[in-house]
Amino acid sequence: MADDLCSFTKDIFVIKVPKKSPLALRMIVLVFAMVCGVYICSICVKQISTHSKAGFLNIPVTQKACPEPYIEPWEIPYVHYPKPKTYSRDGCACNPVRYFAILSMQRSGSGWFETLLNNHTNISSNGEIFSVKVRRSNISTIVETLDKIYNLDWLSSASKNECTAAVGLKWMLNQGLMQHHTEIIDYFNSRGVSVIFLFRRNLLRRMISVLANLYDRDAKLLNGTHKSHVHSPHEAEILAKYKPILNATLLIPNLKQVEETTAKALEYFKSTRHIILYYEDIVKNRTFYVFADANRCSRFPEGSS
Ligand SMILES: *[C@@H]1O[C@H](CO)[C@@H](O)[C@H](O)[C@H]1NC(C)=O
Ligand SMILES: *[C@@H]1O[C@H](CO)[C@@H](O)[C@H](O)[C@H]1NC(C)=O
Ligand SMILES: *[C@@H]1O[C@H](CO)[C@@H](O)[C@H](O)[C@H]1NC(C)=O
Ligand SMILES: *[C@@H]1O[C@H](CO)[C@@H](O)[C@H](O)[C@H]1NC(C)=O
Ligand SMILES: *[C@@H]1O[C@H](CO)[C@@H](O)[C@H](O)[C@H]1NC(C)=O
Ligand SMILES: *[C@@H]1O[C@H](CO)[C@@H](O)[C@H](O)[C@H]1NC(C)=O
Repeated sequence: MADDLCSFTKDIFVIKVPKKSPLALRMIVLVFAMVCGVYICSICVKQISTHSKAGFLNIPVTQKACPEPYIEPWEIPYVHYPKPKTYSRDGCACNPVRYFAILSMQRSGSGWFETLLNNHTNISSNGEIFSVKVRRSNISTIVETLDKIYNLDWLSSASKNECTAAVGLKWMLNQGLMQHHTEIIDYFNSRGVSVIFLFRRNLLRRMISVLANLYDRDAKLLNGTHKSHVHSPHEAEILAKYKPILNATLLIPNLKQVEETTAKALEYFKSTRHIILYYEDIVKNRTFYVFADANRCSRFPEGSS
């Protein structure tokens, strides 16, 4: 067989080269032209692709066309230029956006704190987004939800305009935060999210507030409606009329447990960029600084007290 093949290929050469040399020449020219064509085409394709690559590289260049905000170099990872899918940031596309997360516990004044933040026209704190269980069912749903918030695509009553300068949410420690802390810390650190811890110094008052809130859930003291957050001294007075009875045996263990959870959260999240605020301190002195900005600091609340 090998012999046959050999003689066969030999035959081709023998037949084609000497006998039909004009045809062979034509064939060679044709093959040469084809090779040249393919070569030229490949160069064209290469040039087109480098062209498109250059175009692709242009995008960050145009992004860089945003004047660099005057900030410390260490702060650069915490400044973002999101591109929402649902709308265009138009004139404010170059406004840097800061990401934050308020980590807190129930009845620690975080609702009130959020109201203060949201009073600022360019700050959007989207509330207790992870109180809805499906959103915290696993780390992929958590990341998906966070991505949507930080990309300014989360539409809530607190979401602001395209000029939002800081966006975030309120997140209770018992809403998947402690279970998935490793992945969440990775997310915060890689996406440049600043953490605001908000705790209450007086844990006994917090506990009473928890009990009063539980009681009101059924009793509905305010004209048959249950309100987690009161909005007037009058409403607060009505709720304060309720005097819960504390179980003395459980009191100390309960307070200890809250303390431990707080300490654990601080330990877990210590590698993130964070500040620790206490409700009592903010009530006393409402002038505090959260987001250092280009030329000014955001001061809360503006103008008042
Ligand atoms: C909200 O901000 C305005 C000024 O922008 C201020 O007059 C008002 O008192 C603030 N409200 C609260 C609840 O802080
Ligand atoms: C909100 O952002 C806009 C656009 O950058 C700016 O003109 C305005 O002064 C900001 N408002 C406050 C209260 O900082
Ligand atoms: C995460 O939870 C969502 C909603 O409950 C579910 O659809 C999805 O399959 C889960 N993903 C993983 C990786 O478990
Ligand atoms: C209950 O409703 C009445 C009439 O609408 C109102 O005058 C009163 O202030 C309400 N009370 C509370 C605690 O909201
Ligand atoms: C307090 O709690 C403990 C443990 O749950 C229980 O055994 C005890 O009866 C409670 N005491 C009162 C007064 O409810
Ligand atoms: C309130 O806090 C601000 C900022 O930390 C500080 O500059 C100011 O002196 C404080 N005011 C009072 C009355 O403590």
